[in-house]
Amino acid sequence: MITASIIPSSQKELTILLEEALKKGDLAEIRVDLADDLNLLDICNNFDIKRVIVTNRKKDEGGKFEGSEKDRISPLIDAIKLGFGFVDIEASSNDLFQELIFKKREFSSKTNIIRSYHLFDKTPNNLKEMALKMKEANSDIIKVVTYANDITDNLKIKDLLSSLSNNNKKIISFLMGEKGEISRILCNSWGSYTTYAPLKRAGKTAPGQIPIEILNDVYRANSIKNDFEIYGLIGNPVKESIGYYVHNKLLSYHNLDAIYLNFLVDDLGRFLDSFKDQFKGLCITMPFKEKIMPYLDKIDPMATKIGAVNTIKKTNEGIFGTNTDWIGAVYSIEKVSSIKGKKVLILGAGGTGKAIAFGIANRKGETIISNRNEKKALELSKKVDADVVSWSDRNNIDFDILVNATKVGMVPHNDSCPMEESFFSKDLSDITVFDAVYSPINTKLLSMSKERGAKIANGLDMYIGQAMAQFELWTGIKPAHEKMEEYSMNALKLREELNENKGN
Ligand SMILES: NC(=O)c1ccc[n+]([C@@H]2O[C@H](COP(=O)([O-])OP(=O)(O)OC[C@H]3O[C@@H](n4cnc5c(N)ncnc54)[C@H](OP(=O)(O)O)[C@@H]3O)[C@@H](O)[C@H]2O)c1
Repeated sequence: MITASIIPSSQKELTILLEEALKKGDLAEIRVDLADDLNLLDICNNFDIKRVIVTNRKKDEGGKFEGSEKDRISPLIDAIKLGFGFVDIEASSNDLFQELIFKKREFSSKTNIIRSYHLFDKTPNNLKEMALKMKEANSDIIKVVTYANDITDNLKIKDLLSSLSNNNKKIISFLMGEKGEISRILCNSWGSYTTYAPLKRAGKTAPGQIPIEILNDVYRANSIKNDFEIYGLIGNPVKESIGYYVHNKLLSYHNLDAIYLNFLVDDLGRFLDSFKDQFKGLCITMPFKEKIMPYLDKIDPMATKIGAVNTIKKTNEGIFGTNTDWIGAVYSIEKVSSIKGKKVLILGAGGTGKAIAFGIANRKGETIISNRNEKKALELSKKVDADVVSWSDRNNIDFDILVNATKVGMVPHNDSCPMEESFFSKDLSDITVFDAVYSPINTKLLSMSKERGAKIANGLDMYIGQAMAQFELWTGIKPAHEKMEEYSMNALKLREELNENKGN
């Protein structure tokens, strides 16, 4: 079950939000402490209150209520009397908890009392003993929510839920913080009674919270089972990646019992050690593309040459690593132009420039490399047998294909371009221009080149090409380009929307 948590500032707003919350969630939580004039009787007359949790959080438990304990418990007693489905009271407020139990009996109410425990700075190792103690009290449900300082804290919640949820008492447990995000997605499959999620329209969410629309529509949180295969992305940061959207949509489209998650990792060795039995395959991003290599049992020759792995898969022979970045770049370019025998100028000698240079060599193109830091261009040129041109001369040489593998032109610097104005004074109808940047898709380089007649290939197709290769490696299914394009475009739109909301 998913509980939509809402933060109404008034009764009027609550009516609108609760209707939406109960449409999108199985349950809805009303935080009484966050609104001034809530009228529970009015809610009772207009909504299915059996699906509503009433909570009145005090300040030192992460809420806003600052009055007396007597005033704090009053709406919870009203909720019990009116027959709301749930009330939530902190484990630290034992007197209030006992009073609620007493009132429940007095009113012969069926309201479930949730006894909740929050820890805002860590996830201790003794969670299980603590939860067992909480279970001894007479609550209907216990809730244990702690803070993730490391991705491996998620496994403590998994362990807690799998050992306690099959007892007769219901338990809710997940983690706060960005590193605890995966627990909010998987906790139901681990045995949690429910997970919590805000409405997307609430805008600013706490780190790790996932809007209910995404939990439902992208992660299929209510359908995930404990035996689902796990794929995902490891990196730091991971939150700007669109892979979670694209891969989950693909897994769902192909009816696969699998899920794709973002793992925000600090310590690669500790992650691999703790999660080695959990995942089937992973995408690898900064800063782990090179660091992952010593941990792998087999690496394909192209990734070894490039010196970076962006995809791994568990096999019977151990963990296999490969690189699909070059496949994506070649995929995008070959949609508009062949590469064999063509003169290709690559701008950039970072991670992407390196992968593309090997891709061009694989397709028998003649490579010329130009990089702001010429030393890096020279080093790469030796590995791929390429020529080098200085950064200041890049506008003055002839080539058939231009590749931008620098960061120039990427948001928020959409106005910048890796080629100078003079380059666009020529007729470019004989050349192809490819830009690896895909935020924005139509970069200044691509739009100006197109105006001068060039054929253009974009970074979104590179993303699509490399993600298709990853999905095929993991599942054996080659996804259709149209589906990839649809999902990638939707993912970019969603990312923009969420980033805009953050600024509110
Ligand atoms: N479409 C896709 O699927 C895909 C996949 C991966 C990456 N990308 C894109 O590829 C681009 C490069 O990523 P990366 O991983 O290779 O980054 P990276 O390893 O950090 O390399 C950055 C490159 O950009 C150059 N650069 C940065 N600022 C510059 C400036 N102001 N003027 C000239 N050159 C500049 C750097 O030159 P110096 O060496 O001189 O610093 C270096 O060559 C990014 O825009 C990224 O979004 C796209």
